Amino acid sequence: MVTEILIVDPVEPDRTAIARAAACLRRGGLVAFPTETVYGLGAHALDRTAVARLFEVKGRPPNDPLIVHVAALEEAAALVTRVPDAARDLAARFWPGPLTLVFPRAEAVPTDVTAGLDTVAIRVPAHPVAHALLVAARLPIAAPSANLFSRPSPTRAIHVVDDLGGRIDMVLDAGPTSVGVESTVLDLTQDPPVVLRPGAVTVEALRGVVPSVRVRPPGAAASGAMASPGLLDRHYAPRTPMTLYDGRSASTRAALVEAIAEAVAAGRRVGLLATSEHALPVRHLPVVIADLGSERDPGQVASRLYAALRELDAAQLDLIVAQGPETDEGLWRAVHDRLRRAATRVVGS
Ligand code: TXA
Ligand code: MG
Repeated sequence: MVTEILIVDPVEPDRTAIARAAACLRRGGLVAFPTETVYGLGAHALDRTAVARLFEVKGRPPNDPLIVHVAALEEAAALVTRVPDAARDLAARFWPGPLTLVFPRAEAVPTDVTAGLDTVAIRVPAHPVAHALLVAARLPIAAPSANLFSRPSPTRAIHVVDDLGGRIDMVLDAGPTSVGVESTVLDLTQDPPVVLRPGAVTVEALRGVVPSVRVRPPGAAASGAMASPGLLDRHYAPRTPMTLYDGRSASTRAALVEAIAEAVAAGRRVGLLATSEHALPVRHLPVVIADLGSERDPGQVASRLYAALRELDAAQLDLIVAQGPETDEGLWRAVHDRLRRAATRVVGS
């Protein structure tokens, strides 16, 4: 199959292109589109055949539930059995935006979408292209990140084409996404609500609206049969082995520099994924450096992260070395989470 690529303006998307993509979705097609976080691969959420095809082309295991995207909170009403007060408050503050809320699922949502769960994850994206598509299609759109299963999420249309070209109907290319890491997933079916996946909306910001919000410890298994984000530990994995030097101690940092120097001396090709500050000590070595920008700008680090992982992965290296963040505050929590999941080995804390 030929994947059609439509270039659209990220701020004022062309109506004809949006109408074509919407019609394609309504027919059961698969359309990749930008959101403010990463590109999503959309399917008509109530069309079981389309949803089945979506799982198939991604190579996604059927026990990993999808997020359903809608244009506004009111459109979630048909998909859930209850809208808790906290949901209204959070939606008023963060929607449209990079927050996904987990609700009790209404019958209307096929269990294929939710991996058999009696809950459903819903988000109202802020990207003008995603919004225009939802309005034009007049459908709830199920959309996971538009990457092959276990590859880093796509932050540019070319990443989507690299992974899924020839297997999906259409890609709306509106340039790089701005946020770069996925939405925060917050489970509102538990009281107090629990962050299942740290993301673009920080825990601190959520607590500004709902002070009782809890965070699931990294690596903690999901309860019962519930498939959830942390369950698949190596979710964002590059193909090249990657060691994460985690922890802020001087010894961990020294170990990183030493490991790189040793690998280089042994004739191995090494890539480094780090902030500009942390890349400094190895600048003199023959290392491929993916510079994530300054420690002072976690927003930029997040927005560059997945493209940097893909670049290093394409560079024919023997080893990728990554530097863990110095803090878990704000957006660093999400960056840290993604680095941990991408790593084949973690040194330090
Ligand atoms: O930013 C994002 O969230 C992007 C854009 C495209 O919206 N989407 C995204 O989708 O990252 P995906 O499929 O790659 O990740 C969705 C996460 C999964 O880890 C899944 O386990 C969790 O949301 N999830 C979905 N439904 C759930 C549910 N009912 N209960 C708990 N977790 C759920
Ligand atoms: Mg994903």
